[in-house]
Amino acid sequence: MAKTILITSGKGGVGKSTVCTMLGAALSRQGSRVLMLETDCGLRNLDLMNGLENQVVYDLGDVLLGRCEPARAILKCPASEGLDLLPAAGSTRFQIPAGTLSRLISGLRDFYDYILLDCPAGFDDIFDAVLSVSDMGLVVVTPNLISVKDGAKAADLMEQAGVKEGRLIINMVPKRWQPTESLSDFDAIIDMVGLQLIGVVPIDNEMSENLNRGRMGLYSEGVEVFDNIARRLKGKWIPLRID
Ligand SMILES: Nc1ncnc2c1ncn2[C@@H]1O[C@H](COP(=O)(O)OP(=O)(O)OP(=O)(O)O)[C@@H](O)[C@H]1O
Ligand SMILES: [Mg+2]
Repeated sequence: MAKTILITSGKGGVGKSTVCTMLGAALSRQGSRVLMLETDCGLRNLDLMNGLENQVVYDLGDVLLGRCEPARAILKCPASEGLDLLPAAGSTRFQIPAGTLSRLISGLRDFYDYILLDCPAGFDDIFDAVLSVSDMGLVVVTPNLISVKDGAKAADLMEQAGVKEGRLIINMVPKRWQPTESLSDFDAIIDMVGLQLIGVVPIDNEMSENLNRGRMGLYSEGVEVFDNIARRLKGKWIPLRID
């Protein structure tokens, strides 16, 4: 029975889709069956990141409108056995009805261990629909006050919607991060967002380039970081390296 995990940030471009893809791959390498369900309608890019850009025939919109069975829209990701993708609708105008999404998720839960829901930036009706089907939320922020404030808002909305578990990922951390006047250290970020930290992801330009070229599965520093985040998600104690 799958655990549904939404990935949000409020602010755009902080790495939600990167986290979804890298974490999905890590979980599946560790033997879990994972579905990445992309809800960023009109701006889909998980297909590109996973090397499936030219293979999308049906998408989430087709499934939710009853034009095809979920199995026809779900693609197998080449990076890892057991990693699947349901790409977002191509149209920016597509709205996701909460009831229909909930029925779809209920039907898919038996086939996966994790369903990762990649959210769009901001907090719109799609975010509300995703909140209503999620068991857990991962909030992604960068070490930047505006991103952290938006992450705090996301954590509040998760709590109000009854999403019981929440974790924080601090992404795009420079090698030698210099605390600023507005953000004194990682503890300040954790306190503002109010969630337990589950991972610190360094800036990894090789990982970014691999994803931009649809070359998932190639090694870079980030791969190991996400392997550890996946283990922590599964309840294993892996020390967090914050330096
Ligand atoms: N840790 C990282 N190191 C280097 N580049 C990164 C890292 N994380 C993300 N990026 C890059 O930052 C850009 C934005 O990432 P991504 O698309 O994952 O963000 P997003 O939050 O999903 O954006 P959107 O809000 O538009 O959906 C991409 O080019 C991605 O490769
Ligand atoms: Mg995205």
